[in-house]
Amino acid sequence: MGEITIAAKVTHVPTMLLSQQPGALEGCREPAIEGHRELGRRARAAGVDTVVVLDTHWLVNAGFHVNSNELFEGVYTSHEFPHFIQNMEYKHPGNPDLGDAIAARATEKGVHTLSHQVPTLDLEYGTLVPLHFMDPEGEFKVVSIAAWCTVHNLNDSRKLGEAIAEAIRESDSKVMLLASGSLSHKIWENELYAANNGTFTISKEFNKQVDLRVMDLWAQGEYGTFLKMLPDYALQCAGEGGMHDTAMLFGALGWDKYDGKAEVLTPYFESSGTGQTNVQFHL
Ligand SMILES: [Fe+2]
Repeated sequence: MGEITIAAKVTHVPTMLLSQQPGALEGCREPAIEGHRELGRRARAAGVDTVVVLDTHWLVNAGFHVNSNELFEGVYTSHEFPHFIQNMEYKHPGNPDLGDAIAARATEKGVHTLSHQVPTLDLEYGTLVPLHFMDPEGEFKVVSIAAWCTVHNLNDSRKLGEAIAEAIRESDSKVMLLASGSLSHKIWENELYAANNGTFTISKEFNKQVDLRVMDLWAQGEYGTFLKMLPDYALQCAGEGGMHDTAMLFGALGWDKYDGKAEVLTPYFESSGTGQTNVQFHL
C-alpha cells in the first residue's frame, strides 16, 4: 500500500537560481534553497520514490490535467523570466501508472481529469525549480499536475486532492506531495519594481499581514479556519494560480480533518511583490 510520506507547500522563486550564481543576488535565497534541500533529505530518508507536484505555473483553461510522461528530460528556459531561468538542464523519470490512477480517480468523483503521456508535453518551472534543489541527481519519479486553473472552482481542486491521496494509497508508491506556489502573489507593477527594491519586498502590506495570519493559523493547527477563508484569500491576495495547489494539497491531507503539525522550513520572505515560504505539513 502506498502513502503520502511528506507533504509541503513550497516556494519556487526564480531568484533561487540567481542566488547560486556570482553577482548581486549571490546567496540571497539561501534559506529557501536550504528548505528545499532539507525536504529532499527528508524524502530520501523516508524512502520516497515519487514526487507529485501541484504546479501553479502550468496554466489550464479547461478540465484538469496530469503530466504522466515516462521520462522528463530537457533544457529549460522560462518564457516568463528568460533572464532568471536559462538553460536549466533536467532529467527525471516519471510515474505514468500513478498519474493515470490519479486522473481516473478524480474523474470517478466527477472532476474531469486527463492524464497525458505526450513526450513533447514538458514541465513548467513550478515543478522544475523545486526538483532542481530537492533532487539534483534526478532520483525521484515525477508526476506534475496543473494547478493554475483559470476557470475552475476550488472545491473541484479539493476533490482532485482527495483523488490524489486515494490513488497513492492504492499504489505501491511512497510520495512527497508538493504544493508549488506562493502565499499572496501580487507581483510588483513593472514601473514600480526598481524604486521599491522589488526583488526583496512585497507589493501590499495588506497581503503581507494576511500571509502572516495564515502562517499563524497553520502554526496553531487552525486549518478549518484557514480553509473557510481560502476562497477569499485567493481572491483578495491574488493567490498564485488561484491557490488551486493549496486546495489540492489540503484535499489530499483530509481538508479540515487534517490535524498535523505545520513546520516552517524557510521563514516567510518577500519576493518580487509576493509572499513566500516553505512549510512541511506533517502526517
Ligand atoms: Fe510562481
